[in-house]
Amino acid sequence: MDTLRVLLTREQIAGKVAQMGERITADFIGESLVLIGVLKGATIFLADLARQIKLDVTFDFIAVSSYGKAKHQSGEVKLTKDVDQSVEGRNIILVEDILDTGLTLTYLHNMLQTRQPKALKIAALLDKVPRRAEPVHGDYVGFEIPNEFVVGYGLDFAERYRNLPDICVLESGSETR
Ligand code: IMP
Ligand code: MG
Repeated sequence: MDTLRVLLTREQIAGKVAQMGERITADFIGESLVLIGVLKGATIFLADLARQIKLDVTFDFIAVSSYGKAKHQSGEVKLTKDVDQSVEGRNIILVEDILDTGLTLTYLHNMLQTRQPKALKIAALLDKVPRRAEPVHGDYVGFEIPNEFVVGYGLDFAERYRNLPDICVLESGSETR
């Protein structure tokens, strides 16, 4: 039986996402922007963040191999879906649900950088700083959280709980660590 404990309420998340949108708007004023969401966890964050950015914004999506049913990163990142549009000469913000070890965003950032975007930034709603294995830096970070496994607001455990409006710590009976 899984137990869920609320870590960040929907109100806290909405307030933070609004602030992040304001900062991004100010930083890119007069420019257009492509938000590239990392499927699937970033979808809900991207949907809310996009509506807080008062600029000419388009979306694209990218997918990498994920945790599967385990809670631990395998250490291997594989691209399973590339973007649809060219990033060359565009202002790109990579939108991710959570920065954990940093392997995923390091891989994606390096890959997109070779395609010569005009600007390439990272927006992550959550950041588990103590878990970092790669020295990747989030340009727009919502919340620093402790080293606990969280679900909701797009984040899953074995594909479940993405639809929870709050971000919750999963205190699981089906622990796989
Ligand atoms: P990284 O490559 O280790 O930084 O992992 C990033 C990815 O791991 C995220 O996009 C999530 O899909 C997943 N992840 C890391 N921590 C959590 C968590 O606490 N809950 C759910 N997914 C997580
Ligand atoms: Mg993800």
